[in-house]
Amino acid sequence: MKKVLITGANGQIGSELIFELRKRLGADSVVGLDLREPGEEQQKAGPYEVLDATDKAGLEKIMAKYQIDTIFHLVGILSATGEKNPNLAWKVNMTSLLNVLEIARETKAKNQDIHIFWPSSIAAFGPTTPREHTPQETVMVPTTMYGVTKVAGELLCQYYYLKYGVDVRSIRYPGLISWKTAPGGGTTDYAVAIFYEAVQNGKYECYLEPGTVLPMMYMPDAIRGTIELMDAPAENIKTRTSYNFSAVSFSCAELAAEVKKLVPGFECAYNPDSRQKIANSWPKTIDDSVARAEWGWKHEFDTRKMATDMMANLKHKFGRPVAGQKAAASEQQAHPTKRKI
Ligand code: NAD
Ligand code: SER
Repeated sequence: MKKVLITGANGQIGSELIFELRKRLGADSVVGLDLREPGEEQQKAGPYEVLDATDKAGLEKIMAKYQIDTIFHLVGILSATGEKNPNLAWKVNMTSLLNVLEIARETKAKNQDIHIFWPSSIAAFGPTTPREHTPQETVMVPTTMYGVTKVAGELLCQYYYLKYGVDVRSIRYPGLISWKTAPGGGTTDYAVAIFYEAVQNGKYECYLEPGTVLPMMYMPDAIRGTIELMDAPAENIKTRTSYNFSAVSFSCAELAAEVKKLVPGFECAYNPDSRQKIANSWPKTIDDSVARAEWGWKHEFDTRKMATDMMANLKHKFGRPVAGQKAAASEQQAHPTKRKI
């Protein structure tokens, strides 16, 4: 990893991954790319290109301009947005991935390797998948367009590895919880919104039923795991579809109870909407023993540790008092529905 391109750099994951990789590799060695203009902080922090990742020629130009050897391809339309606009989800998720894989194949034919990271999701599983301790190899018949693109994407990645030797690695992320950048239209977004609403309003109306259990992970674990996968020796990476990747699982009510411990008086109401059906089709817990055995994956944050860290950061962000810590001087503008880097 010497010259890195992160597509979807403005998103929930990209905005944190770019920060971490720039710290490790140097600001000029990590280029951000997104359809959306960068935030002020992002713009100042290093090279950034605004491009639609479905534009293959544009992508090729950027790859050549910066002599990119590694791509973290994070562009994607997530589950809830994808159900509102399935055609867009198919077009963006599949075309952009095919572009990246094709560029790597063409570059390899000229004896240069481009390493690719592409994220799959727990959405690659479906209602007929075993929902408890979902194994690495199992039934994968998703019922969302997002899930369809993740299964197709996994198979495409494996195909490019087997047929052309493209070094493409992948993780099936669970729902990711973070406080820096708002999530972008997924079914698991409630697990972020609940913290924002607790800090700002002391209450939250959840769009999933209280007993809904989903696999989740705190962003620092996800970022570390992603980089560890890409740093692992190629001979350790035996799975070229995508690795099960897990940390914690909890129900909405269990998370609400954790939040209440940190915000006394917090109340959570429940008003399930169309996202309930999506959540019901996904696993509750994931068996990620293959990732742990093959490249040493290990999570650090359990639910309590994640909730405590999340709350402390959000209280600081919004200028609320944090136990044992001086409150931030000024109120900041931020909301999970309003993206901010
Ligand atoms: P996000 O929605 O926060 O970010 C995606 C970014 O891609 C956005 O900044 C958006 O502007 C950009 N984008 C969309 N279409 C584009 C296009 N055509 N060209 C260029 N940029 C475009 O998503 P995220 O949560 O950061 O997810 C990144 C990847 O990780 C996705 O593939 C997603 O499926 C996967 N994933 C995320 C989670 C999660 O909980 N966040 C879980 C599982 C998998
Ligand atoms: N967080 C993602 C979503 O809910 C899972 O892939 O869409």
